[in-house]
Parts: sequence; structure tokens; C-alpha cells
Amino acid sequence: MYTLNLNQMTQQEFLDEYWQKKPVVIRGGFKNFVDPISADEVAGLAMEEQVESRLVHKKDGQWQAAFGPFESYEHLGSENWSLVVQALDNFSEEAAEMIEAFRFIPHWRLDDLMASFATPGGSVGPHIDNYDVFICQGSGKRRWRVGARGEHVQFAAHEALLHVEPFDAIIDEELEAGDIVYIPPGFPHEGITLETSMSFSIGFRANSAVSLLSAFADHLIDGEQGGQLLEDPNRQVVTHSGEVSNNDYASIKSQVQNLLDDETSFKKFTGQFLTAAKHDLDILLPDEPFELTEVSNLLNSHAIKRLGGLRAFYFEDTIEQGLCYINGSELAFSAEIAKGVKLLCDKVMLHPDDLGEWSHNAAFIELATELLNQGYWYLAEAE
Ligand code: SIN
Ligand code: CO
Repeated sequence: MYTLNLNQMTQQEFLDEYWQKKPVVIRGGFKNFVDPISADEVAGLAMEEQVESRLVHKKDGQWQAAFGPFESYEHLGSENWSLVVQALDNFSEEAAEMIEAFRFIPHWRLDDLMASFATPGGSVGPHIDNYDVFICQGSGKRRWRVGARGEHVQFAAHEALLHVEPFDAIIDEELEAGDIVYIPPGFPHEGITLETSMSFSIGFRANSAVSLLSAFADHLIDGEQGGQLLEDPNRQVVTHSGEVSNNDYASIKSQVQNLLDDETSFKKFTGQFLTAAKHDLDILLPDEPFELTEVSNLLNSHAIKRLGGLRAFYFEDTIEQGLCYINGSELAFSAEIAKGVKLLCDKVMLHPDDLGEWSHNAAFIELATELLNQGYWYLAEAE
């Protein structure tokens, strides 16, 4: 179990003082930290097709970047390169555990857990992210420099590397195992590896209005919604034919506004959008589909665990109406099991004790069977 140690600060004090506002180094954020996954395993994952990875190195003073899957690392030597693997939470149960320490921030804000292996001198270069990130140092040592937010010139150091011009550091510190640097969006930063290093970044995403609108438009098109044309059967004669009257403008705007104001439809879209997986999930279907009676017994003897990287959320009101959102789809269930479904969305692992009465409820057992058969939840040994 990973416990985040904020050094005398409460989680709320951290949010008030630093979250989205300023970077900070949290010394010993994880006490006695041991890499949850080895460098060899990370390198092995980056050889797999479904895993998103990136290699960055310098050749003759020029930045180079390549996307995985990779076949070998031998040509890179023992210095000046780094390997990054995205969505490690989808592929390593042990590494995904780290995320549990950050559950004081809602899961819908989470993006993924990224692993970074780097040899001395290795770096992805100075850059700016649009994400909040907690970079947890694992084995080895890395020096982190973070600059102030402001006007920074960005440029392509390579077609796949957006870098930032040199910046003055407001943080310049060496991190060792268990130290964490939190960096909000917009702050230029670079990590330079001093000793062969592993680090793990828990990244949080926020969406722009334009990405929401564009996805909402796709959602409407898929559902054949929003296609009604503007109607004006009560039109009056005009004298200024070049004018778009205030009334006409209001009608045009309300065409769009009405779509946003349709709470049921926009909420459904939002739930589906927020739970859609950005990276491939490592879904393992059961050899044989589970039967209801079997699941009813299993829920009393086993824990059930949510698949790494799977997103499952509910809104404060939809849960009571029997609606939640899982992996990009809306899921309807009997409203009587709302509290049980909340548990599924809130907790990654549920032991028989956590489930309590729900393991005897027919509607809950039916839902659990469906989720197990989809490979979205799986059985784990109850400890
Ligand atoms: C890295 O870990 O190599 C890069 C992480 C970051 O700067 O966001
Ligand atoms: Co970064």
C-alpha cells in the first residue's frame, strides 16, 4: 500500500496551496519507496504492440525521439537515453497501486500512470505539459529543474518533441527514491538523470471546451441527434435584408444552447466521454462466462478488482436514477443497488466485507456477473 506523506500538510492544505497553482518538491512523499516494476519489465512492455512508449535520446548533440514498440535497446549504450511507457496502470497491477495514494483527487481528473526509465544524462528535454503531474522518483537519482509559469517560447527539437527555450529555475533539486515533485500545467521543467533512474508520473487531465464540443458533436452525429433545421414559420417582412436581427441570432444560438441544456443528453455524453479509455485496456475475458449462481458464491469468498485503467464514474444524481458510466458507455441498473454500484466506482478492490449485503442482492449479482464476463472486473484472492 502506498501512503502519500505530505510532510505536515493535510491533503486539503496541499490542494489550497499548490494544486494548479505552483510546483513543489515533496521530500519522502513515499517512505521506503521500492520500484513497483523493474526497468527490465518496463523495457519489455515497450516492446509490445498495445503499449504506448517513447524513446528519447541525443545523437551527435541532436534530440531524437521514436515511438514503440521497440525491438532492442542495445544500440543506445549506457548513457543519455530515456524510455517512457504510458498507461502503466493498464499493464501492471503493482504499479497501479501507486494511484491509490492520490484518491483525494477524483478519478475523472486522472489521466494515467507513466513510467520513465533513464540512463545517466537521459532526459526528454525541457518542456511544458498541459497536465498536473506528480513525478515520483524511484530508484536512482534525477535532478529536476522547474521554471515559473509565463511566456515561454516552445519549438520542435524533433518532430515528436516540443521543447521550451532555456528557463530560470524556481526549483532545482535532486530527487531520490520516494521524493515527489508536483508540477501544475504551464510550468516549464526538465529532469536530468544523474544515476540510472526509474520514475513514475501520475498525470491528471483536464479538457478544453473545444475538445468537449468536438466530442459532443461526434456524440450527436453517432446518435443522429441535433439534426433539426432551424424553423421560422412566423417570419415577418424585413426592410434590411442584410441584417441578422437580434431575434434571429437568438434563435440560431438557442439551436446550439438547447442541445447543451438537455441535461439528460449532455450528462450521458459527459459520462461516456469521461470514462472513455485513452489507452488500450488489457482486457482478459474469462475462459468460460460466469453463471449467476457461481458469482453469488464467489462474491462471498473472493475480492473483485477493477481492471487497471478502467474508468467507472457516476454523477451525484444519476446514481440514484440507476445510471453510471463505464468505459465509454452508459450502464443502466436497478436503482435499489445504487449504493453497491457506488462502491464499484469508488473502490478499485472490493472484499466480501466491503460488499456486505450486496453479495446477496440478485440485481447486484447480475450486474457483477455482467462486469466479470466483460473482463472489466476480475476475481482476486480475498486477503
Ligand atoms: C520523464 O519522466 O522523463 C518526463 C516526465 C515529465 O517531464 O513529464
Ligand atoms: Co513533463
